[in-house]
Amino acid sequence: MKLFFVTHNKAKYKEAKQIGLEYNIDINWINLEYEENQEDEIEKIALYSCNTLIKENPEIKTKNFFLEDAGLFIDALNGFPGPYSSYAFQKISNEGILTLMKNKENRKARFKSVAALFYEGEITLHYGVTEGEIVYEAKGEEGFGFDPIFRPISSDLTFAEMSLKTKNLYSHRQKSLRELLSQKLPSLKNKHGEIDGKDARKKKRKS
Ligand code: IMP
Repeated sequence: MKLFFVTHNKAKYKEAKQIGLEYNIDINWINLEYEENQEDEIEKIALYSCNTLIKENPEIKTKNFFLEDAGLFIDALNGFPGPYSSYAFQKISNEGILTLMKNKENRKARFKSVAALFYEGEITLHYGVTEGEIVYEAKGEEGFGFDPIFRPISSDLTFAEMSLKTKNLYSHRQKSLRELLSQKLPSLKNKHGEIDGKDARKKKRKS
């Protein structure tokens, strides 16, 4: 069966695609920009986006899909940018965050991800958090957004110094998606009595 990821961000889609393959789930891309309401929690943003998307594109209800919202929460900045991450990145980018963090000894930060899945007429939320710190200088060319300034605990590398495969061992997004896939996997896989084309062929050969 097909599962769709609605996002305008190709890098997010590529991360999700790889996680899906590990679970034998074919994640497909719907490249669509949707309205994001400014809320004080990312889970409210994800839920609002999902409901608005369905309202504005009722035909999407024929598909199983998810969208995902993330934010970077920095302790020394009282959780900023958090739910304002998108706006902050557009306005001040990584240089601006590093300037705000100048002379701050406490570098602790975390990325949070909320994936909102629409499946069989119901929305469920799935969460992932990755603890880490804000480095002193942007490092690395991979990834997107705040990747060059965030180093997860237990790695010497920023997200932007990691390959996609390595980021998928640490990231907040892989956690929310793995939660989504592992919680929903039996029903996602068995809806049509098949896992994917390969397994369906195996089944046919057997019968
Ligand atoms: P959104 O989830 O696309 O709304 O992300 C909010 C902001 O956080 C955007 O500026 C993204 O570029 C940034 N962001 C989200 N996820 C990541 C990530 O995995 N790495 C780095 N930045 C991210």
